[in-house]
Formats: sequence, C-alpha cells, structure tokens
Amino acid sequence: MASATSTFLVNILVVVSLTAAASAASGFNQNFDITWGDGRAKILKNGQLLTLSLDKTSGSGFQSKNQYLFGKIDMQIKLVPGNSAGTVTAYYLSSQGPTHDEVDFEFLGNVTGQPYTLHTNIFTEGKGGREQQFRLWFDPTTDFHTYSVLWNPQRIIFSVDGTPIREYKNLESVGVLFPKKQAMRIYSSLWDAEDWATQGGRIKTDWNKAPFMASYRNFNANACVWSNGKSSCRGSGSISAWMNQQLDNTNQQRLRWVQKNFMIYNYCTDTQRFPQGLPKECKVNN
Ligand SMILES: *[C@@H]1O[C@H](CO)[C@@H](O)[C@H](O)[C@H]1NC(C)=O
Repeated sequence: MASATSTFLVNILVVVSLTAAASAASGFNQNFDITWGDGRAKILKNGQLLTLSLDKTSGSGFQSKNQYLFGKIDMQIKLVPGNSAGTVTAYYLSSQGPTHDEVDFEFLGNVTGQPYTLHTNIFTEGKGGREQQFRLWFDPTTDFHTYSVLWNPQRIIFSVDGTPIREYKNLESVGVLFPKKQAMRIYSSLWDAEDWATQGGRIKTDWNKAPFMASYRNFNANACVWSNGKSSCRGSGSISAWMNQQLDNTNQQRLRWVQKNFMIYNYCTDTQRFPQGLPKECKVNN
C-alpha cells in the first residue's frame, strides 16, 4: 500500500514537472532570438506571441537559441492576411555552412481571395532540389494553424494540423543522403520576393498595404538539443514515441489524400526537369 501510494505520488510529481517543462518550452523569449528587421519583429504577451512584419524598407526574422538534432517541432502560424502577393513567410530548420541540411516550409502569398502556396524542400549536404508544393484545405490567414516537422533517424514528416503532407524516408541503404549528422536551428522570416513568389512574379507587392504581418504562437519542441558535442533530449512525454514514430495506416491514408488532392508540384514527377532520370529517392517504391 505504502509503496503504491509513493509510486502514485512520484507519478504526479513527474507529470507536474513535465507540464512545467512543456509550458516553459512555449515561451519565445526563452527559445528564440530576433535576428533582423530593426524592431519589425516583436515578442509580445509575455513571450506567448511573436509577430514578424515587412514593409518596403525591410522584412524581419528570428531563430532558435538551441540547435536540435532530431525532434518533433510544432509551431502555430497565422499568415499575412488580405493581399499578401509578393510576400514569403519562410519557416525552416537548417544547419550551417556550404554542406548544410535544411527542412523547409515556405508560404507564398497571393492576392486577396487566391490561395497561398505551401512550398516544401529538403536539402542534404548543401543540395536541395526536392520541391513539393501544396494548396491548403483552409484559409491560413484567418487563424493559427500548426505546422510540424517530425525528424528522427528514419524519416522526416511534414504535417499541417496533425495531417501529414510529406514524408522523406531515410534511404541511405540505397545511396540517398539523409540529414542526421548536423544539428539544425529553427528559423523564420517574412520578406519580399515579388520577383518570383506570386503567380510566377507577375503580381507584385502592393506596398500601400504594408506593413504585412505574420504571427506565431505555441511553439513546442519534443527534441534533442545539441550543445558542446552532447545531445540532451527533452519535452513532454517519452522520447521514443517520436524518435521511432512512423505513419500508421490511418496517417498513410491521410498523406495520400493530401498528395492526391492538394499537391500542385512534385519534383518526383517532373521528368522534363530530370532528363537524365529522376532522383533516386523518387524511384524507390516507398
Ligand atoms: C495564386 O493564385 C493563382 C490563381 O488562383 C494560382 O495560380 C497561384 O498558384 C496562387 N499562388 C501563388 C503563390 O501564386
């Protein structure tokens, strides 16, 4: 009896401390540095909200204090509303240097009433070229939505509101590079790319509508923080849950649903672009 009670108490203490860790993890002040924009990026509401803005003079951006080597990283973002043509909101993980790895979400704005494009890419050892683009099944400017990267040694899964939209598997066994040696920071920025972003650059930014603004909240990382050559894994719940996570049948179906109905570009089907043959990962039946 006594031992059952003490186990119970220990469990409560563990739950309480995990909850505390998880809520601390959502603070922008603890987790991020504003890196550019001369006051255009702001941390508000006691660290619970971050806003980026863009005007004719400059955009703005932030980056994580920590470097991560694997994790499940969630961020809620509300994109630039109204006429966002020409603007790009980039949210990505990246290591540094000429042979860096990178996992990208980029949101390309549009004129009022026309859909955003969600552009994704994966770089390994400095080389990208793995673009997939999507429409979203909701208006990403009227509310916050959760954009997640699950990155473990076997796969990278991009998700939107918990629905997987893209999976990049570890296919090192057949000679495809996979990011797993370089720790990455989280970066986000709002900038002007009117030369190419919207409808192939035909629609320019309407500066009368500036400043443009994107908002962030509820950052959560169940992840391994890399520091001084050591990895320390943290977050709520067990590490092995995300470290070994893969798509179950339901999620594989949801992934196929998104790819069938919302994918508007896939490098893996762009045979014109690869006259020498599609990249190896596209040919493996996965
Ligand atoms: C903007 O809207 C047009 C028309 O619906 C569409 O073709 C385009 O893909 C949309 N997105 C971007 C980023 O141009």
